[in-house]
Amino acid sequence: MFRRVGWLVLYSLVVLLSCLFFLKRDAQPARGPVVRQPFWAPSGPRHSSCPPNHTVANSFLFLPNRHRLFLTYRHCRNFSILLAPSGCTEDTFLLLAIKSQPGHVEQRAAIRNTWGRAGSWAKGRQLKLVFLLGVAGPTPPAQLLAYESREFDDILQWDFAEDFFNLTLKELHLQRWVAAACPQAHFMLKGDDDVFVHVPNVLEFLDGWDPAQDLLVGDVIRQAPPNRNTNVKYFIPPTMYRANYYPPYAGGGGYVMSRATVQRLQAAVEEAELFPIDDVFVGMCLRKLGVSPTHHAGFKTFGIQRPLDPLDPCLYRGLLLVHRLRPLEMWTMWALVTDEGLKCAAAPLSQLRGVG
Ligand SMILES: *[C@@H]1O[C@H](CO)[C@@H](O)[C@H](O)[C@H]1NC(C)=O
Ligand SMILES: *[C@@H]1O[C@H](CO)[C@@H](O)[C@H](O)[C@H]1NC(C)=O
Ligand SMILES: *[C@@H]1O[C@H](CO)[C@@H](O)[C@H](O)[C@H]1NC(C)=O
Repeated sequence: MFRRVGWLVLYSLVVLLSCLFFLKRDAQPARGPVVRQPFWAPSGPRHSSCPPNHTVANSFLFLPNRHRLFLTYRHCRNFSILLAPSGCTEDTFLLLAIKSQPGHVEQRAAIRNTWGRAGSWAKGRQLKLVFLLGVAGPTPPAQLLAYESREFDDILQWDFAEDFFNLTLKELHLQRWVAAACPQAHFMLKGDDDVFVHVPNVLEFLDGWDPAQDLLVGDVIRQAPPNRNTNVKYFIPPTMYRANYYPPYAGGGGYVMSRATVQRLQAAVEEAELFPIDDVFVGMCLRKLGVSPTHHAGFKTFGIQRPLDPLDPCLYRGLLLVHRLRPLEMWTMWALVTDEGLKCAAAPLSQLRGVG
């Protein structure tokens, strides 16, 4: 009798412990610093419509967990739209497609109220603002996004997890949305939600370009070697990219494309195998298309010197886009850019055109 109870207790303990083990395993964040899990398939949010390919995971046992997670789900490329804004019209000149995250409520508010103001700009140019989102944890509650979507009509959210390695999924799904709902836009600016865009200068610059010609302009990075350090966010093992250098690509903080290039990219992106770093991925697609990205010094995707001296009016001369600003800095810059008394604010056209 006692022996039986003893076995029962032991058995319950084993069950309890294994439950705890699996719960803990599932609670592990998908992302994060080098987590090595060589013995089992990577854990992560599961979605019934697209089962993981464990063959892939098992053939890359020694990669960090997030890389194996990426490879296990790389074939999953069809996610549904959860929230969508209205589409573009014949008048849409520039589509601002801004990568955001559900929690970045303040960044979105700052953009909407400053440079991202949708509607008509100089010369009747129509701007359309769209924020690109995946799904994150329980905060902020879904009701807040639903409210933002109703109130501002600028939320484009898909049913995949918000993750650095999922930014390529955002690129792919954005291309599909543009093809369906915004094929008219003459140009598209794709950027992060911590960039400041000097919209008047960008519009001035675009005056010189034909949307039917290929154009991708930004802070172009050439001969960048893949990062082989496992501790770095951008780590890419040779098994995922063998060559010594990436193709030329425009830094993902922000770049501008013509309608022609957007259309050609759509096809290329559909055919390409996903790569975890989204701006490099676009560079790979451009190379396939034979389009070379154009460098412009007005795109400061590595930021500008701090402490920022926003009162230096000539800071804005020739500036198209600055990366890594806090919402307060965005408001400050906007106040100064729109200050009519500021003598240096408008760049001479020759300087804006200065590409090369
Ligand atoms: C899983 O990955 C392996 C290796 O890359 C591939 O050969 C196989 O076709 C994949 N299976 C599915 C269902 O995608
Ligand atoms: C995604 O959808 C396309 C077209 O609808 C289909 O051809 C493809 O097989 C789908 N892929 C997956 C992984 O479901
Ligand atoms: C990307 O999103 C999918 C779908 O939500 C998820 O399964 C996966 O864990 C996410 N992260 C990575 C790195 O693939």
